[in-house]
Amino acid sequence: MVIEKICCLGAGYVGGPTCSVIAMKCPNIKVTVCDKSVERINQWNSDKLPIYEPGLQDVVNQCRGKNLFFSTDIAKGIREADLIFISVNTPTKTFGNGKGRAADLKYVESAARMIADLATSNKIVVEKSTVPVKAAEIIMKILRANTKPGVEYQILSNPEFLAEGTAIVDLVEAERVLIGGEDTPEGQKAIQELCWVYEHWIPAKNILTTNTWSSELSKLAANAFLAQRISSINSLSAVCEATGADVSEVARAVGRDSRIGPKFLEASIGFGGSCFQKDILNLIYLCECLNLPEVAEYWQQVLNLNDYQKTRFTRKVIESLFNTVTDKNIAILGFSFKKNTGDTRESPAIHVSKTLLDEGAKLHIYDPKVEPDQIFYELTNPYLTSEPEVVKRNVEIHDTAYSAVTGAHAIVLCTEWDEFKSLDFKKIYEVMMKPAYIFDGRKILNHEALQNIGFHVQTIGKRLSRVGSIRAQGSQTMP
Ligand code: NAD
Ligand code: UDX
Repeated sequence: MVIEKICCLGAGYVGGPTCSVIAMKCPNIKVTVCDKSVERINQWNSDKLPIYEPGLQDVVNQCRGKNLFFSTDIAKGIREADLIFISVNTPTKTFGNGKGRAADLKYVESAARMIADLATSNKIVVEKSTVPVKAAEIIMKILRANTKPGVEYQILSNPEFLAEGTAIVDLVEAERVLIGGEDTPEGQKAIQELCWVYEHWIPAKNILTTNTWSSELSKLAANAFLAQRISSINSLSAVCEATGADVSEVARAVGRDSRIGPKFLEASIGFGGSCFQKDILNLIYLCECLNLPEVAEYWQQVLNLNDYQKTRFTRKVIESLFNTVTDKNIAILGFSFKKNTGDTRESPAIHVSKTLLDEGAKLHIYDPKVEPDQIFYELTNPYLTSEPEVVKRNVEIHDTAYSAVTGAHAIVLCTEWDEFKSLDFKKIYEVMMKPAYIFDGRKILNHEALQNIGFHVQTIGKRLSRVGSIRAQGSQTMP
Protein backbone atom coordinates (compact mmCIF):
# COMPACT_ATOMS: atom_id res chain seq x y z
CA MET A 1 0.00 0.00 0.00
CA VAL A 2 1.26 3.49 -0.76
CA ILE A 3 0.00 5.96 1.80
CA GLU A 4 -2.11 8.56 -0.02
CA LYS A 5 -4.41 9.71 2.77
CA ILE A 6 -3.68 10.22 6.45
CA CYS A 7 -6.23 10.98 9.14
CA CYS A 8 -5.31 12.12 12.65
CA LEU A 9 -7.75 11.76 15.54
CA GLY A 10 -7.04 14.61 17.96
CA ALA A 11 -6.23 18.18 16.85
CA GLY A 12 -4.29 19.18 19.96
CA TYR A 13 -0.73 20.28 20.73
CA VAL A 14 0.58 17.11 19.09
CA GLY A 15 -1.92 16.24 16.34
CA GLY A 16 -2.08 19.79 14.93
CA PRO A 17 1.64 20.60 14.57
CA THR A 18 2.68 17.03 13.67
CA CYS A 19 0.17 16.71 10.84
CA SER A 20 0.84 20.24 9.60
CA VAL A 21 4.51 19.34 9.19
CA ILE A 22 3.66 16.00 7.53
CA ALA A 23 1.43 17.90 5.08
CA MET A 24 4.18 20.43 4.38
CA LYS A 25 6.81 17.76 3.80
CA CYS A 26 4.57 15.31 1.87
CA PRO A 27 2.64 17.44 -0.64
CA ASN A 28 1.23 14.32 -2.33
CA ILE A 29 -0.39 13.01 0.83
CA LYS A 30 -3.79 14.37 1.87
CA VAL A 31 -3.75 14.94 5.63
CA THR A 32 -7.00 15.44 7.56
CA VAL A 33 -6.85 16.31 11.24
CA CYS A 34 -10.12 15.47 13.01
CA ASP A 35 -11.39 16.40 16.43
CA LYS A 36 -14.68 15.90 18.19
CA SER A 37 -14.44 19.49 19.47
CA VAL A 38 -16.19 21.78 16.99
CA GLU A 39 -14.64 24.83 18.66
CA ARG A 40 -11.10 23.47 18.25
CA ILE A 41 -11.61 22.64 14.58
CA ASN A 42 -13.16 26.06 13.92
CA GLN A 43 -10.07 27.65 15.46
CA TRP A 44 -7.75 25.52 13.31
CA ASN A 45 -9.71 26.76 10.28
CA SER A 46 -9.52 30.41 11.40
CA ASP A 47 -6.77 33.04 11.48
CA LYS A 48 -6.27 32.49 15.23
CA LEU A 49 -5.05 28.94 15.75
CA PRO A 50 -6.03 27.23 19.02
CA ILE A 51 -2.41 26.94 20.12
CA TYR A 52 0.52 29.34 20.02
CA GLU A 53 3.61 27.71 18.59
CA PRO A 54 6.39 29.63 16.82
CA GLY A 55 6.36 28.91 13.06
CA LEU A 56 3.09 26.95 13.13
CA GLN A 57 0.95 29.65 11.50
CA ASP A 58 3.27 29.75 8.46
CA VAL A 59 3.14 25.99 7.99
CA VAL A 60 -0.66 25.96 8.29
CA ASN A 61 -1.02 28.88 5.88
CA GLN A 62 1.17 27.09 3.38
CA CYS A 63 -0.83 23.82 3.37
CA ARG A 64 -4.37 24.41 4.67
CA GLY A 65 -6.97 23.84 1.97
CA LYS A 66 -4.36 22.22 -0.32
CA ASN A 67 -3.37 18.93 1.29
CA LEU A 68 -4.09 19.82 4.95
CA PHE A 69 -7.64 19.84 6.29
CA PHE A 70 -9.14 20.27 9.75
CA SER A 71 -12.52 18.64 10.18
CA THR A 72 -15.12 17.35 12.62
CA ASP A 73 -16.21 14.75 10.07
CA ILE A 74 -14.40 11.93 11.82
CA ALA A 75 -16.31 9.24 9.90
CA LYS A 76 -15.13 10.55 6.52
CA GLY A 77 -11.60 11.04 7.81
CA ILE A 78 -11.41 7.44 9.03
CA ARG A 79 -13.08 5.90 5.97
CA GLU A 80 -10.83 7.50 3.39
CA ALA A 81 -7.51 7.17 5.28
CA ASP A 82 -4.85 4.54 4.64
CA LEU A 83 -3.13 5.46 7.88
CA ILE A 84 -4.72 6.85 11.06
CA PHE A 85 -2.82 8.55 13.86
CA ILE A 86 -4.43 8.35 17.29
CA SER A 87 -3.26 11.56 18.90
CA VAL A 88 -5.89 12.04 21.59
CA ASN A 89 -5.25 13.12 25.18
CA THR A 90 -4.23 10.53 27.78
CA PRO A 91 -4.61 12.42 31.07
CA THR A 92 -4.00 11.05 34.55
CA LYS A 93 -7.10 9.32 35.92
CA THR A 94 -9.01 11.45 38.41
CA PHE A 95 -11.25 8.69 39.74
CA GLY A 96 -11.48 4.95 40.39
CA ASN A 97 -8.71 2.40 40.04
CA GLY A 98 -5.31 4.04 39.69
CA LYS A 99 -6.76 7.49 40.50
CA GLY A 100 -4.08 10.19 40.43
CA ARG A 101 -1.51 7.92 38.77
CA ALA A 102 -2.73 5.70 35.94
CA ALA A 103 -3.26 7.08 32.45
CA ASP A 104 -6.90 7.41 31.51
CA LEU A 105 -7.16 5.56 28.22
CA LYS A 106 -10.85 6.27 27.59
CA TYR A 107 -10.12 8.61 24.67
CA VAL A 108 -7.73 6.11 23.08
CA GLU A 109 -10.32 3.38 23.49
CA SER A 110 -13.09 5.53 22.02
CA ALA A 111 -10.85 6.39 19.05
CA ALA A 112 -10.18 2.68 18.48
CA ARG A 113 -13.91 1.90 18.69
CA MET A 114 -14.69 4.65 16.15
CA ILE A 115 -12.16 3.15 13.75
CA ALA A 116 -13.59 -0.34 14.29
CA ASP A 117 -17.12 0.94 13.61
CA LEU A 118 -16.33 3.03 10.57
CA ALA A 119 -13.45 1.43 8.65
CA THR A 120 -14.34 -0.29 5.41
CA SER A 121 -10.79 -0.90 4.11
CA ASN A 122 -7.36 -1.89 5.47
CA LYS A 123 -5.82 0.58 7.92
CA ILE A 124 -2.51 1.17 9.59
CA VAL A 125 -3.42 2.53 13.01
CA VAL A 126 -0.64 4.48 14.67
CA GLU A 127 -0.60 5.12 18.39
CA LYS A 128 0.94 8.59 18.71
CA SER A 129 -0.52 9.44 22.12
CA THR A 130 1.73 8.67 25.09
CA VAL A 131 0.41 5.49 26.70
CA PRO A 132 1.40 2.82 29.22
CA VAL A 133 3.31 -0.18 27.88
CA LYS A 134 0.91 -2.69 26.32
CA ALA A 135 -1.72 -0.07 25.43
CA ALA A 136 -1.39 -1.09 21.78
CA GLU A 137 -2.79 -4.45 22.87
CA ILE A 138 -6.05 -2.71 23.85
CA ILE A 139 -6.29 -1.08 20.43
CA MET A 140 -5.46 -4.41 18.75
CA LYS A 141 -8.09 -6.29 20.75
CA ILE A 142 -10.82 -3.75 19.97
CA LEU A 143 -9.99 -3.58 16.27
CA ARG A 144 -9.45 -7.27 15.73
CA ALA A 145 -12.56 -8.27 17.72
CA ASN A 146 -14.64 -6.08 15.41
CA THR A 147 -12.96 -6.77 12.08
CA LYS A 148 -15.25 -6.73 9.08
CA PRO A 149 -14.63 -8.98 6.06
CA GLY A 150 -11.90 -7.57 3.84
CA VAL A 151 -10.62 -5.16 6.51
CA GLU A 152 -7.26 -5.74 8.16
CA TYR A 153 -5.44 -3.64 10.72
CA GLN A 154 -1.80 -3.15 11.61
CA ILE A 155 -1.12 -1.29 14.84
CA LEU A 156 2.09 0.69 15.26
CA SER A 157 3.52 2.72 18.12
CA ASN A 158 5.05 6.03 17.04
CA PRO A 159 5.44 8.23 20.11
CA GLU A 160 6.00 11.96 19.68
CA PHE A 161 9.05 13.68 21.13
CA LEU A 162 8.30 17.33 20.28
CA ALA A 163 8.51 19.91 23.05
CA GLU A 164 6.06 22.80 23.15
CA GLY A 165 7.50 26.15 22.16
CA THR A 166 9.89 24.45 19.71
CA ALA A 167 7.46 21.98 18.13
CA ILE A 168 7.99 22.95 14.50
CA VAL A 169 11.78 22.82 14.68
CA ASP A 170 11.59 19.58 16.68
CA LEU A 171 9.39 18.03 14.00
CA VAL A 172 11.28 19.33 10.97
CA GLU A 173 14.69 18.47 12.40
CA ALA A 174 13.73 15.48 14.56
CA GLU A 175 16.80 13.85 16.14
CA ARG A 176 14.95 10.56 15.92
CA VAL A 177 11.62 9.08 14.92
CA LEU A 178 10.65 5.93 16.78
CA ILE A 179 8.38 3.30 15.24
CA GLY A 180 7.42 0.08 16.97
CA GLY A 181 5.43 -2.73 15.40
CA GLU A 182 4.69 -6.42 15.42
CA ASP A 183 7.41 -8.86 14.51
CA THR A 184 5.41 -10.38 11.65
CA PRO A 185 5.78 -9.81 7.89
CA GLU A 186 2.61 -7.65 7.94
CA GLY A 187 3.84 -5.71 10.99
CA GLN A 188 7.23 -5.07 9.38
CA LYS A 189 5.55 -3.97 6.15
CA ALA A 190 3.43 -1.45 8.07
CA ILE A 191 6.57 -0.12 9.76
CA GLN A 192 8.17 0.37 6.35
CA GLU A 193 5.11 2.25 5.11
CA LEU A 194 5.23 4.70 8.02
CA CYS A 195 9.03 4.99 7.57
CA TRP A 196 8.35 6.00 3.96
CA VAL A 197 6.17 8.91 5.14
CA TYR A 198 8.90 10.22 7.48
CA GLU A 199 11.66 9.64 4.93
CA HIS A 200 10.20 12.52 2.93
CA TRP A 201 12.34 14.69 5.24
CA ILE A 202 13.98 12.61 8.00
CA PRO A 203 17.22 10.76 7.10
CA ALA A 204 16.61 6.99 7.28
CA LYS A 205 19.40 6.60 9.85
CA ASN A 206 17.38 8.74 12.27
CA ILE A 207 14.34 6.47 12.08
CA LEU A 208 14.55 3.79 14.76
CA THR A 209 12.39 0.70 14.58
CA THR A 210 11.68 -1.55 17.56
CA ASN A 211 9.06 -3.91 18.84
CA THR A 212 5.81 -2.26 19.96
CA TRP A 213 6.48 -2.50 23.71
CA SER A 214 10.01 -1.05 23.50
CA SER A 215 8.60 1.89 21.59
CA GLU A 216 5.86 2.53 24.15
CA LEU A 217 8.28 2.22 27.09
CA SER A 218 10.95 4.39 25.43
CA LYS A 219 8.58 7.36 25.40
CA LEU A 220 7.89 7.09 29.14
CA ALA A 221 11.59 6.48 29.75
CA ALA A 222 12.70 9.55 27.76
CA ASN A 223 10.39 11.86 29.69
CA ALA A 224 11.36 10.27 32.99
CA PHE A 225 15.08 10.79 32.23
CA LEU A 226 14.54 14.42 31.21
CA ALA A 227 12.49 15.21 34.30
CA GLN A 228 14.99 13.38 36.49
CA ARG A 229 17.77 15.69 35.28
CA ILE A 230 15.70 18.73 36.25
CA SER A 231 14.90 17.31 39.68
CA SER A 232 18.58 16.44 40.14
CA ILE A 233 19.76 19.99 39.44
CA ASN A 234 16.86 21.45 41.43
CA SER A 235 17.86 19.31 44.42
CA LEU A 236 21.35 20.78 44.17
CA SER A 237 19.93 24.29 43.92
CA ALA A 238 18.83 23.90 47.55
CA VAL A 239 22.37 22.86 48.49
CA CYS A 240 23.72 25.90 46.62
CA GLU A 241 21.44 28.29 48.49
CA ALA A 242 22.56 26.77 51.79
CA THR A 243 26.28 26.89 51.03
CA GLY A 244 27.04 29.80 48.73
CA ALA A 245 27.66 27.66 45.62
CA ASP A 246 25.98 28.90 42.43
CA VAL A 247 23.80 26.31 40.67
CA SER A 248 24.51 27.78 37.21
CA GLU A 249 28.23 27.34 37.78
CA VAL A 250 27.67 23.81 39.08
CA ALA A 251 25.50 22.95 36.04
CA ARG A 252 28.15 24.36 33.69
CA ALA A 253 30.91 22.36 35.35
CA VAL A 254 28.89 19.14 35.55
CA GLY A 255 27.43 19.45 32.05
CA ARG A 256 30.89 19.86 30.49
CA ASP A 257 31.42 16.12 31.06
CA SER A 258 30.39 14.73 27.69
CA ARG A 259 28.89 11.69 29.44
CA ILE A 260 26.46 14.05 31.20
CA GLY A 261 26.00 16.89 28.68
CA PRO A 262 24.77 20.45 29.23
CA LYS A 263 21.07 20.24 28.34
CA PHE A 264 18.17 20.05 30.80
CA LEU A 265 20.32 21.20 33.70
CA GLU A 266 18.58 24.55 34.14
CA ALA A 267 17.51 24.85 37.77
CA SER A 268 14.05 26.36 38.01
CA ILE A 269 10.95 26.89 40.02
CA GLY A 270 10.11 23.25 39.08
CA PHE A 271 9.07 21.58 35.85
CA GLY A 272 5.55 21.86 34.48
CA GLY A 273 3.77 20.91 31.28
CA SER A 274 1.27 18.27 30.35
CA CYS A 275 3.80 15.45 29.98
CA PHE A 276 6.46 15.01 32.66
CA GLN A 277 4.28 14.57 35.73
CA LYS A 278 1.62 12.57 33.90
CA ASP A 279 4.09 10.25 32.21
CA ILE A 280 6.15 9.61 35.34
CA LEU A 281 2.96 8.87 37.30
CA ASN A 282 2.07 6.52 34.48
CA LEU A 283 5.48 4.80 34.79
CA ILE A 284 5.16 4.58 38.58
CA TYR A 285 1.73 2.98 38.30
CA LEU A 286 3.03 0.53 35.72
CA CYS A 287 5.90 -0.46 38.06
CA GLU A 288 3.49 -0.93 40.96
CA CYS A 289 1.26 -3.13 38.80
CA LEU A 290 4.33 -5.14 37.78
CA ASN A 291 5.20 -5.57 41.49
CA LEU A 292 8.37 -3.49 41.20
CA PRO A 293 7.96 -1.20 44.26
CA GLU A 294 11.64 -0.15 44.42
CA VAL A 295 11.51 1.07 40.83
CA ALA A 296 8.23 2.88 41.48
CA GLU A 297 9.73 4.58 44.53
CA TYR A 298 12.81 5.67 42.59
CA TRP A 299 10.75 7.57 40.00
CA GLN A 300 8.31 8.87 42.63
CA GLN A 301 11.21 10.79 44.14
CA VAL A 302 11.61 12.80 40.90
CA LEU A 303 8.06 14.08 41.39
CA ASN A 304 8.46 14.61 45.15
CA LEU A 305 11.49 16.77 44.50
CA ASN A 306 9.56 18.80 41.95
CA ASP A 307 6.79 19.49 44.47
CA TYR A 308 9.45 20.37 47.05
CA GLN A 309 11.03 22.86 44.65
CA LYS A 310 7.73 24.66 43.94
CA THR A 311 6.89 24.78 47.66
CA ARG A 312 10.39 25.87 48.63
CA PHE A 313 10.30 28.78 46.18
CA THR A 314 6.87 29.98 47.28
CA ARG A 315 7.84 29.69 50.93
CA LYS A 316 10.87 31.86 50.22
CA VAL A 317 8.62 34.54 48.71
CA ILE A 318 6.36 34.61 51.76
CA GLU A 319 9.19 34.51 54.31
CA SER A 320 11.03 37.34 52.57
CA LEU A 321 7.92 39.51 52.64
CA PHE A 322 7.99 39.48 56.48
CA ASN A 323 6.00 36.23 56.62
CA THR A 324 2.81 37.85 55.44
CA VAL A 325 1.46 38.61 52.01
CA THR A 326 -2.08 39.37 53.15
CA ASP A 327 -3.43 42.30 51.09
CA LYS A 328 -0.05 42.79 49.43
CA ASN A 329 0.08 43.29 45.66
CA ILE A 330 2.19 40.63 44.01
CA ALA A 331 2.95 40.80 40.30
CA ILE A 332 3.20 37.37 38.69
CA LEU A 333 5.23 37.60 35.48
CA GLY A 334 4.56 34.59 33.27
CA PHE A 335 1.85 31.99 33.72
CA SER A 336 2.60 29.41 30.98
CA PHE A 337 4.71 26.38 31.94
CA LYS A 338 7.60 27.57 29.77
CA LYS A 339 8.29 30.35 27.29
CA ASN A 340 6.91 30.42 23.73
CA THR A 341 3.71 28.58 24.55
CA GLY A 342 0.32 29.61 25.88
CA ASP A 343 -0.09 26.19 27.53
CA THR A 344 -0.64 26.33 31.29
CA ARG A 345 -1.04 22.63 32.05
CA GLU A 346 0.79 21.80 35.33
CA SER A 347 2.48 25.21 35.18
CA PRO A 348 4.44 25.94 38.37
CA ALA A 349 2.85 29.42 38.26
CA ILE A 350 -0.42 27.79 39.30
CA HIS A 351 1.10 26.41 42.50
CA VAL A 352 2.77 29.73 43.31
CA SER A 353 -0.39 31.75 42.61
CA LYS A 354 -2.63 29.39 44.57
CA THR A 355 -0.40 29.44 47.62
CA LEU A 356 -0.14 33.23 47.59
CA LEU A 357 -3.92 33.54 47.16
CA ASP A 358 -4.46 31.20 50.11
CA GLU A 359 -2.24 33.57 52.14
CA GLY A 360 -4.47 36.52 51.22
CA ALA A 361 -2.31 38.16 48.52
CA LYS A 362 -3.71 40.23 45.65
CA LEU A 363 -2.26 38.93 42.41
CA HIS A 364 -1.56 40.95 39.28
CA ILE A 365 -0.80 38.47 36.53
CA TYR A 366 0.75 39.10 33.14
CA ASP A 367 1.63 36.55 30.50
CA PRO A 368 2.23 37.44 26.84
CA LYS A 369 0.32 34.44 25.44
CA VAL A 370 -2.04 32.99 28.05
CA GLU A 371 -5.68 34.07 27.72
CA PRO A 372 -7.27 35.55 30.89
CA ASP A 373 -9.99 32.87 30.87
CA GLN A 374 -7.35 30.18 30.95
CA ILE A 375 -5.71 31.76 34.02
CA PHE A 376 -9.06 31.92 35.82
CA TYR A 377 -9.79 28.35 34.78
CA GLU A 378 -6.52 27.10 36.27
CA LEU A 379 -6.96 29.05 39.50
CA THR A 380 -10.53 27.93 40.05
CA ASN A 381 -10.02 24.35 38.89
CA PRO A 382 -12.11 22.21 41.28
CA TYR A 383 -9.13 20.06 42.20
CA LEU A 384 -7.50 23.11 43.77
CA THR A 385 -8.58 24.86 46.92
CA SER A 386 -9.28 28.51 46.04
CA GLU A 387 -12.92 29.53 45.99
CA PRO A 388 -13.91 31.12 42.65
CA GLU A 389 -15.10 34.31 44.44
CA VAL A 390 -11.70 34.71 46.15
CA VAL A 391 -9.95 34.31 42.84
CA LYS A 392 -12.23 36.84 41.11
CA ARG A 393 -11.77 39.33 43.95
CA ASN A 394 -8.03 38.97 44.35
CA VAL A 395 -6.74 38.34 40.84
CA GLU A 396 -6.32 40.93 38.13
CA ILE A 397 -4.99 40.04 34.69
CA HIS A 398 -2.90 42.70 32.96
CA ASP A 399 -2.04 43.48 29.33
CA THR A 400 1.53 44.49 30.03
CA ALA A 401 4.21 43.72 32.58
CA TYR A 402 4.42 47.43 33.45
CA SER A 403 0.75 47.57 34.34
CA ALA A 404 1.04 44.41 36.49
CA VAL A 405 3.95 45.73 38.55
CA THR A 406 2.52 49.19 39.27
CA GLY A 407 1.94 49.44 43.02
CA ALA A 408 3.31 45.92 43.61
CA HIS A 409 5.21 44.96 46.76
CA ALA A 410 6.94 42.16 44.90
CA ILE A 411 7.48 40.65 41.45
CA VAL A 412 7.48 36.88 41.14
CA LEU A 413 8.88 35.75 37.80
CA CYS A 414 7.49 32.32 36.95
CA THR A 415 8.14 31.91 33.19
CA GLU A 416 11.34 32.70 31.29
CA TRP A 417 9.74 34.81 28.50
CA ASP A 418 12.51 36.72 26.67
CA GLU A 419 10.65 40.04 26.95
CA PHE A 420 11.11 40.00 30.75
CA LYS A 421 14.87 40.26 30.31
CA SER A 422 14.61 43.63 28.56
CA LEU A 423 12.08 45.31 30.86
CA ASP A 424 13.08 48.77 32.12
CA PHE A 425 13.62 47.86 35.76
CA LYS A 426 14.57 51.41 36.75
CA LYS A 427 11.13 52.52 35.63
CA ILE A 428 9.57 49.52 37.36
CA TYR A 429 11.37 50.26 40.63
CA GLU A 430 9.91 53.76 40.64
CA VAL A 431 6.31 52.54 40.43
CA MET A 432 6.61 49.73 43.00
CA MET A 433 6.02 49.82 46.76
CA LYS A 434 9.22 49.96 48.82
CA PRO A 435 11.06 47.89 49.79
CA ALA A 436 10.68 46.40 46.33
CA TYR A 437 11.27 42.66 45.91
CA ILE A 438 11.97 40.51 42.88
CA PHE A 439 11.88 36.70 43.02
CA ASP A 440 13.41 35.32 39.84
CA GLY A 441 12.17 31.74 39.55
CA ARG A 442 13.97 31.24 36.24
CA LYS A 443 17.37 32.83 36.82
CA ILE A 444 17.04 35.04 33.73
CA LEU A 445 17.49 38.55 35.13
CA ASN A 446 20.66 40.49 35.83
CA HIS A 447 20.56 40.27 39.60
CA GLU A 448 23.47 42.55 40.31
CA ALA A 449 21.99 45.31 38.17
CA LEU A 450 18.65 44.89 39.93
CA GLN A 451 20.31 45.15 43.32
CA ASN A 452 22.08 48.29 42.20
CA ILE A 453 18.73 49.86 41.41
CA GLY A 454 17.60 49.04 44.93
CA PHE A 455 15.62 45.85 44.57
CA HIS A 456 15.78 43.02 47.09
CA VAL A 457 16.45 40.05 44.83
CA GLN A 458 16.07 36.33 45.43
CA THR A 459 16.60 33.58 42.91
CA ILE A 460 17.04 29.83 42.60
CA GLY A 461 20.29 28.14 43.52
CA LYS A 462 22.26 31.23 44.41
CA ARG A 463 22.57 33.28 47.55
CA LEU A 464 22.64 36.97 46.64
CA SER A 465 24.46 39.52 48.77
CA ARG A 466 22.34 42.11 50.51
CA VAL A 467 21.26 45.13 48.53
CA GLY A 468 23.20 47.71 50.58
CA SER A 469 26.63 46.20 50.12
CA ILE A 470 26.16 45.76 46.38
CA ARG A 471 24.93 49.31 45.93
CA ALA A 472 28.10 50.56 47.59
CA GLN A 473 30.11 49.12 44.68
CA GLY A 474 28.66 51.70 42.30
CA SER A 475 26.21 51.55 39.43
CA GLN A 476 26.04 48.76 36.85
CA THR A 477 24.48 48.57 33.42
CA MET A 478 20.95 47.20 33.18
CA PRO A 479 20.08 43.78 31.71
P1 NAD B 1 -4.65 17.84 23.66
O1 NAD B 1 -5.54 17.73 24.82
O2 NAD B 1 -4.05 19.15 23.27
O3 NAD B 1 -5.40 17.28 22.36
C1 NAD B 1 -6.10 16.09 22.31
C2 NAD B 1 -7.33 16.29 21.42
O4 NAD B 1 -7.94 15.03 21.20
C3 NAD B 1 -8.42 17.18 22.03
O5 NAD B 1 -8.65 18.29 21.19
C4 NAD B 1 -9.66 16.26 22.12
O6 NAD B 1 -10.88 16.94 21.85
C5 NAD B 1 -9.34 15.25 21.05
N1 NAD B 1 -10.05 13.98 21.15
C6 NAD B 1 -10.24 13.19 22.25
N2 NAD B 1 -10.89 12.07 21.90
C7 NAD B 1 -11.13 12.14 20.57
C8 NAD B 1 -11.74 11.27 19.63
N3 NAD B 1 -12.22 10.08 19.99
N4 NAD B 1 -11.82 11.67 18.34
C9 NAD B 1 -11.31 12.85 17.95
N5 NAD B 1 -10.70 13.71 18.80
C10 NAD B 1 -10.61 13.35 20.08
O7 NAD B 1 -3.47 16.77 23.90
P2 NAD B 1 -1.97 16.83 23.34
O8 NAD B 1 -1.15 17.73 24.19
O9 NAD B 1 -2.00 17.04 21.86
O10 NAD B 1 -1.49 15.35 23.65
C11 NAD B 1 -1.96 14.25 22.91
C12 NAD B 1 -1.13 13.04 23.27
O11 NAD B 1 0.24 13.26 22.88
C13 NAD B 1 -1.09 12.74 24.76
O12 NAD B 1 -1.05 11.34 24.93
C14 NAD B 1 0.23 13.35 25.21
O13 NAD B 1 0.77 12.71 26.34
C15 NAD B 1 1.11 13.10 24.01
N6 NAD B 1 2.22 14.06 23.85
C16 NAD B 1 2.03 15.39 24.12
C17 NAD B 1 3.09 16.28 23.92
C18 NAD B 1 2.92 17.75 24.21
O14 NAD B 1 3.91 18.45 24.22
N7 NAD B 1 1.73 18.25 24.44
C19 NAD B 1 4.32 15.81 23.44
C20 NAD B 1 4.46 14.46 23.17
C21 NAD B 1 3.41 13.59 23.37
C1 UDX C 1 8.53 17.46 27.18
C2 UDX C 1 9.69 16.74 26.47
O1 UDX C 1 10.83 17.60 26.43
C3 UDX C 1 9.28 16.34 25.07
O2 UDX C 1 10.33 15.61 24.45
C4 UDX C 1 8.05 15.48 25.16
O3 UDX C 1 7.63 15.09 23.86
C5 UDX C 1 6.93 16.23 25.88
O4 UDX C 1 7.39 16.64 27.18
P1 UDX C 1 7.53 19.91 27.09
O5 UDX C 1 6.86 19.51 28.36
O6 UDX C 1 6.69 20.48 26.00
O7 UDX C 1 8.29 18.66 26.46
O8 UDX C 1 8.68 20.98 27.41
P2 UDX C 1 10.15 20.87 28.05
O9 UDX C 1 11.04 21.75 27.29
O10 UDX C 1 10.58 19.47 28.22
O11 UDX C 1 9.94 21.53 29.49
C6 UDX C 1 9.18 20.91 30.50
C7 UDX C 1 9.33 21.69 31.80
O12 UDX C 1 10.64 21.55 32.32
C8 UDX C 1 9.08 23.19 31.65
O13 UDX C 1 8.35 23.66 32.75
C9 UDX C 1 10.48 23.77 31.64
O14 UDX C 1 10.52 25.10 32.06
C10 UDX C 1 11.18 22.84 32.61
N1 UDX C 1 12.65 22.77 32.44
C11 UDX C 1 13.18 22.34 31.26
C12 UDX C 1 13.47 23.13 33.49
O15 UDX C 1 12.99 23.51 34.56
N2 UDX C 1 14.83 23.03 33.33
C13 UDX C 1 15.40 22.59 32.18
O16 UDX C 1 16.65 22.52 32.11
C14 UDX C 1 14.54 22.23 31.11
